Amino acid sequence: MNNQDKIKKLIDLRIEAKLGGGEKRIEAQHEKGKLTARERIELLLDEGSFEEYDMFVKHRCDNFGMEKTKFLGDGVVTGQGTIDGRVVYLYAQDFTVFGGSLSETYALKICKVMDMAMKVGAPVIGINDSGGARIQEGVTALAGYAEIFERNIMASGVVPQISAIFGPCAGGAVYSPALTDFIIMSKNTSYMFVTGPKVVKTVTGEVVTDEQLGGASVHGSKSGVTHFVAEDEQEGISLIRKLLSYLPQNNLEDAPLLPCDDPIDRLEDSLNTVIPDNPNKPYDVKDVIHSIVDHSEFLEVHRNYAQNIVIGFARFNGISTGIVANQPCYLAGVLDINASRKAARFVRFCDAFNIPIITLVDVPGFLPGTAQEYGGIIIHGAKLLFAYGEATVPKITVILRKSYGGAYCVMSSKHLRGDINYSWPSGEIAVMGPKGAIEVLRNKKIAAIEDETERLAYVAQAEEEYKEKFANPYKAAEYGYIDDVIEPRNTRFRIIRALQALATKKDVMPAKKHTNIPL
Ligand code: HXC
Repeated sequence: MNNQDKIKKLIDLRIEAKLGGGEKRIEAQHEKGKLTARERIELLLDEGSFEEYDMFVKHRCDNFGMEKTKFLGDGVVTGQGTIDGRVVYLYAQDFTVFGGSLSETYALKICKVMDMAMKVGAPVIGINDSGGARIQEGVTALAGYAEIFERNIMASGVVPQISAIFGPCAGGAVYSPALTDFIIMSKNTSYMFVTGPKVVKTVTGEVVTDEQLGGASVHGSKSGVTHFVAEDEQEGISLIRKLLSYLPQNNLEDAPLLPCDDPIDRLEDSLNTVIPDNPNKPYDVKDVIHSIVDHSEFLEVHRNYAQNIVIGFARFNGISTGIVANQPCYLAGVLDINASRKAARFVRFCDAFNIPIITLVDVPGFLPGTAQEYGGIIIHGAKLLFAYGEATVPKITVILRKSYGGAYCVMSSKHLRGDINYSWPSGEIAVMGPKGAIEVLRNKKIAAIEDETERLAYVAQAEEEYKEKFANPYKAAEYGYIDDVIEPRNTRFRIIRALQALATKKDVMPAKKHTNIPL
C-alpha cells in the first residue's frame, strides 16, 4: 500500500466511523425525533472546533458472537471543542451502535476525556442516550460505569459537569448524571429511572409508562432530578451553552466578566410599590429579580420544582451571580424539604465555583406539619443552613419583607458569614409573625375576654403593638445585623456596589478532611 492508498484508507475509515451504526439506524434515530450523537455535538460546539479522539476504538468482547460485529468508535463520540471560544471536553453516546450501550472500551474513551478535562481545567459535558451497560460484556461494562462514577466524584467541585439526557438513561447508568452538577432533559424523548416499567410492574404491581415513571416533566417537577426541561434537543443544547456562560472553567477561576451596558445606577421605581401593604398578599419575586439584574436576563434552574424558592443565574454589571429568592406567590415562600434541598445544592455549587450569591428574603418560616417532620425537615432544612454557613464566596442578602424564625437565620443572615445584609423598609424580622406571637404570648388573657368584639379588638391592638416593635428592619439594623435599610428602587445599584467591594474577599474554612453536611 503506497502513501496515497494509506491516506485514502484513513479517509474511508473516518467516513465509516462517522456513520456509527449505519444509515438505517440513523434514520430510525431521526424517526424518533432524535438527533445523532454527531449532530448534537455539531450544534453544541463552536463551528469547526471539534477535535475527536478515539474514533478507531473497537470493543474487545467475543461473547454471543460479538467478535463479528464491531463498529468504529464503539458507540460513543468523544473529544474536545470550544463553546464561545472556551474549551470543553465532551462525550455523546451514539444510540445507533448497540443502542448506545456502554462497553469496557467505550467507558475508557469517556474516562480519557474526563481525565484530560481535569488536567486542563475545563468543563465536561456528557450527552446521554443509551440502553445502559452492554449486556454481552457483563462485569467489564459495570466496571466501566464505576470508573466513570469515580471520575465524576473526583471532578466534582473542580470542573463544572453537565449532563444532557436525550434518550434512555436507565439502571445504574443514571448515577453518572446524578453525580454531575446539572442535568438537562428533553421533553418526550428522554427518560431516567433506576428500574424500568417492566421491573416496576413485577415488583410492585404498579403499571406506568416510561414517561410517567421517569420523563422530563416528572423529573422537572416531582423528583427534582433534572435542573432543566427543554422543549427539544435543540433547546437543550442552547441551554448548555447559556449555562456555561455563567460558569468559570474550573474552581480556580472566576466566571467570565461580560461587558455590560445596562446602567449600574438604573433606578427601578416599580420596586418601591412591589410589596403589597397587606403582608398576607403575595407578589412574584421573579419581577424583583428581572428588574434588578442586567437586561432582565435570568437563567432559572429547577423552574418547576419546589417553586416556593427560586434559584438561578444572572449578572450584575457583567458579574455572574447565583440568585436564591423565596417566592411569596407559591406556598407563601415557606421553606420546606424540597425547597431547602434545592437551594442548598445550588448554594454549594456557587460556592465551589466562586460565584457570588445574592439572596432575596421573604420567608414566613419553615413549613409546619407531620408530613414535613416525618420527611425529615430538620435534616433537610439543616442542609441549607450548612450550605450558607460554609460558603466563602461573597454573600449579599436583601430582606424584602418577611424574615421570620429559623428561616431568618438560614437565609444568608449576617450570623452565617453574610457579607452585606440589606433590608427594604418593608422588612419584618422577628421570631415569628404577629398572629402566632400574640397567640403564644397572650393566649390566657385572650381566652379570658368573654365579649367577642372586645376580644378581637384586644388581639388587633396586641398584634399592632407587636408589629410596631418587631415587624420592621430597624431593630436588626440597631444591632448591626442589617448593614443598611435601602430604598427598593436602588437595589440594583447597592448590590453592584457590594459586589465590587467584595471582589477581593478572602474567607477560609478551618483545616479538615471534609465537612459532614447533614445528608
Ligand atoms: C446491548 C443493547 C442494549 C444493552 C439496547 N441494545 N440496549 N445491546 N446491551 N444494554 C441494542 C438492542 O439489542 C438493539 O440492537 C439496539 O440496541 C436498539 O435497541 P432497541 O431495543 O431496538 O431500541 P428501542 O426499542 O428504542 O429500546 C431502547 C431500550 C431497550 C429501551 C433502551 O433497548 C432496552 O430496554 N434495553 C435494555 C435496557 C437495560 O435494561 N439496560 C441495562 C440497565 S442496567 P439491534 O442490533 O437489534 O439494533 C445497567 C447497569 C449499569 O445499565 C450499572 C452501573 C453501575
